[in-house]
Amino acid sequence: GYAPVPIKDDFLSCVVRSVPPRLLFAKSSPAYGSVWSSSIRNIKFVSEKTVKPLYIITPNNASHIQAAVVCGRRYGMRLRVRSGGHDYEGLSYRSDKPEAFAVVDMSQMRQVRIDGKLATAWVDSGAQLGELYYAVAKATPGLGFPAGVCATIGVGGHFSGGGFGMLLRKFGTAADNVIDAKVVDANGRLLDRKSMGEDYFWAIRGGGGESFGIVVSWQVKLVPVPPTVTVFQIHKGVKDGAIDLITKWQQVAPALPDDLMVRIMAMGQDAMFEALYLGTCKDLVPLMNSRFPELGVNPSHCNEMSWIQSVPYIPLGKSGTVKDLLNRTSNIKAFGKYKSDYVRDPIPKAVWEKIFTWLVKPGAGVMIMDPYGGKISSVDEAATPFPHRKVLFNIQYVNYWFGEGAGALPTQWSRDMYAFMEPYVSKNPRQAYVNYRDLDLGVNQVVGDISTYESGRVWGEKYYKGNFEKLARTKARVDPNDYFRNEQSIPPLLK
Ligand code: FDA
Repeated sequence: GYAPVPIKDDFLSCVVRSVPPRLLFAKSSPAYGSVWSSSIRNIKFVSEKTVKPLYIITPNNASHIQAAVVCGRRYGMRLRVRSGGHDYEGLSYRSDKPEAFAVVDMSQMRQVRIDGKLATAWVDSGAQLGELYYAVAKATPGLGFPAGVCATIGVGGHFSGGGFGMLLRKFGTAADNVIDAKVVDANGRLLDRKSMGEDYFWAIRGGGGESFGIVVSWQVKLVPVPPTVTVFQIHKGVKDGAIDLITKWQQVAPALPDDLMVRIMAMGQDAMFEALYLGTCKDLVPLMNSRFPELGVNPSHCNEMSWIQSVPYIPLGKSGTVKDLLNRTSNIKAFGKYKSDYVRDPIPKAVWEKIFTWLVKPGAGVMIMDPYGGKISSVDEAATPFPHRKVLFNIQYVNYWFGEGAGALPTQWSRDMYAFMEPYVSKNPRQAYVNYRDLDLGVNQVVGDISTYESGRVWGEKYYKGNFEKLARTKARVDPNDYFRNEQSIPPLLK
């Protein structure tokens, strides 16, 4: 029979003193299942076997979050925080091992408040990127914001890990453009940049979600965008010289003027060269023809539009509309496995030939390659926890499939491909991007109820390089008991 666990009930009766019951969901609540799965993107984790939260709290103001932390500390209930639910390993709403925890789901907190005069905005963590882009363009058409490509990504997790998209070469990561934040710390205090102090503020801008408390909202610097931008998407098959083009692209793309981003999506025997240019077709065509004539860009490739129109256009093509940016229901629900690499030295042509044989093996995924250079590379490695600055480009290996039984081949391909790539990518450490979360890189070991620094270093130096130690020291100052933790949270470096 079912025996209630008193300690957990104490947590609930504590929270209910400060949070209206309609914002609380226990496993027995009729709406629990739909609230839990509402923003899950990787449906691999929508499973009977998944370790789910005992409670979900959907705060609509900061005091509710403070109550959840205070009650959680008092009654031994850990909290995981979810904003957009896009974590590739589902760490915002599930635990890898059996554990009693509650989820603070930020989806009710998603205001965007724009100050057009100062060119800044306050955005709540529960907003999705599309809501931020939409609000910015509506209030101030000459401004935009540099962050991820997919509109449904949550601000909370994305900014916590860095966050980048088609404006990365001009304006860096989303976190590079954060100027203030409101955070609930492990003692339930609501802090801003001034009261949290500079090391704490440094850590939340790229040091990964969960570790340092619950970020309620972020103040960002908006960036200027011209009235017309130009997009092209050009497909080249291996038969049309894709391999020569990619070999050259590795050195051309990171050195282009920072108004121009040309990335590649490689799939099967096809490479799509996708560009966003902050200017008109008339200027883009001669620029491409002087820097990368082999691609053969001509005016028929150009699609001119406003910056905000380019945001849905890039992932969805002509069918994407600006109103889609507000749509919070995710239509692409797939099972997925994702990995990432950084490339510091150009990969030889003969290796690209092999890579394209990998891309047609059973279970093959897609490779998305984002060139760096420009602003993202001009920031000092230690200026934020995101250390991936002096690199040519980022690779994301994306494997997705439909249907529970179909995962074996893609999962195997993803691991085999990662092993194959090792000699050609960054080393000591082999760098990886925390927002492309990958538990294969390692998970924390917990000893005496504290995640150990040594176990964290294994995956942590891949995500943060030399910044890992400072993150761990900061964690020791702000959360020495390791209250906020998950499988890849920053462990406290205690003396
Ligand atoms: P989610 O809510 O799952 O949180 C992710 C992590 O942050 C978890 O550990 C969570 O606990 C923590 N967290 C969440 N909210 C927090 C808060 N308020 N305070 C403290 N911690 C918090 N990335 C990129 O840089 N560029 C891109 O173009 C894309 N594109 C893309 C497309 C798609 C379809 C997916 C699924 C993912 C991406 N990503 C990406 C990766 C994305 O940036 C990454 O998954 C983010 O962490 C997602 O943030 P969410 O808030 O949605 O995730």
